[in-house]
Amino acid sequence: MTRRISFLFFATGLLLSSGCKPLFDIRKAMYDQPKYEALEASDFFGDRRSARPLIEGTVAQGQLRLDDHLYLALEEIDGDVLQARSYPFEITMADLERGRERYDIYCSVCHGLSGHGEGMVVRRGYKAAPGYHSEKLRDMPPGYFYSVITNGYGQMSSYAAQIPVEDRWRITAYIQALQRSQFASIEDYEAVKARSSHDETLESPHEHH
Ligand code: HEC
Repeated sequence: MTRRISFLFFATGLLLSSGCKPLFDIRKAMYDQPKYEALEASDFFGDRRSARPLIEGTVAQGQLRLDDHLYLALEEIDGDVLQARSYPFEITMADLERGRERYDIYCSVCHGLSGHGEGMVVRRGYKAAPGYHSEKLRDMPPGYFYSVITNGYGQMSSYAAQIPVEDRWRITAYIQALQRSQFASIEDYEAVKARSSHDETLESPHEHH
């Protein structure tokens, strides 16, 4: 406390003895650093752009996206490239938990915690978000949900900037689990009852038979 007070005296003294100007100059110097702001013009480069383009034929670290299944939700099925019907990695219980968490954060506000479209934003007047339990959406492959999250759909905007690729698949898996939970068969019930608590992996929750 006493250190704080003596600092106050010191600062006030500085202000009084030197007038305000030098202090402002210091702040201004920090504000006007010799640096480029985003997309600022530059006389240094021939094209007068400070933002440098990628060098042709190079890929920045972490940006090599060769896996079409993972990144584009595309899968080769019987010689055709189609929207993925399977997951690009095995969905574990931990992935489902993560999917639930991300879903609750990003999607439930509109689509509702149980996916019936009853989210709070909708109840407050936003355009009704469809529930996931329609026949149309229960028949959609995982790749469909991944694509909607990535690209948006109609009035719903893209969530690509907020949700990393792997999490989009985890949210998808959680949505498919939600769907199955609303239309559970007696076999599902028996399977859940029989599953011991230490079993960590789940099958893909949506399969076509
Ligand atoms: C701000 C509200 C809002 C949020 C948040 C939101 N959605 Fe949507 N979503 C909508 C609306 C509204 C539509 C329908 C858009 C239209 O028909 O123009 C929609 C459509 C969809 C559809 C397509 C349904 C169909 O009929 O094919 C899917 C799938 C979907 N959302 C999934 C998600 C997922 C997954 C998330 C979270 C990552 C999410 N949404 C977050 C409002 C939202």
